[in-house]
Amino acid sequence: MTDVNRAREEAELRQQIRQTLKGSGRQKENLIPLLQKVQARVGYLPREAMLEIADFLGIPAIDVYGVVTFYNQFRLNPPGKHSIRVCLGTACHMKGGYITLDAWKRRLDIGPGETTPDREFDLDTVACVGCCVMAPVTVVDERPEGKVEPTKVDGILLAFEREREKDKDNQ
Ligand code: FES
Repeated sequence: MTDVNRAREEAELRQQIRQTLKGSGRQKENLIPLLQKVQARVGYLPREAMLEIADFLGIPAIDVYGVVTFYNQFRLNPPGKHSIRVCLGTACHMKGGYITLDAWKRRLDIGPGETTPDREFDLDTVACVGCCVMAPVTVVDERPEGKVEPTKVDGILLAFEREREKDKDNQ
């Protein structure tokens, strides 16, 4: 990407963020709701978002950054095409949720909160998603998959791979 394109993209992003903040209260207590609002619109919280929010609330950018990195609901990287959320609620934890998480980490070669370099997948953890009988659960693109053990991780990834190949053949 050229410097001109990058600058243009950054300006557009800042404009989009300012638009999102417009009309919101400027009290410091609004920090978390504003971060959620901007993340819902942009998909993640880039540096520009944190600077705009700090400016909007009149607080130091480092305070915004501190909150963003403290709560794992906030993303610092753009989301991938497919989202993988590993449940680490009590039931899933008891049924090996961490083993499932390890399998995803190894297969995708990323950690929670990260996106694969090809932007296909992002990985994260969630608390109980309400289908404990299916533990260990992984939510794949909003769809809870039950009994996700390492071999099932391979199966899910294979299904995505096949889909991608089919799409390529149809082009
Ligand atoms: S603990 Fe994972 S779905 Fe309830």
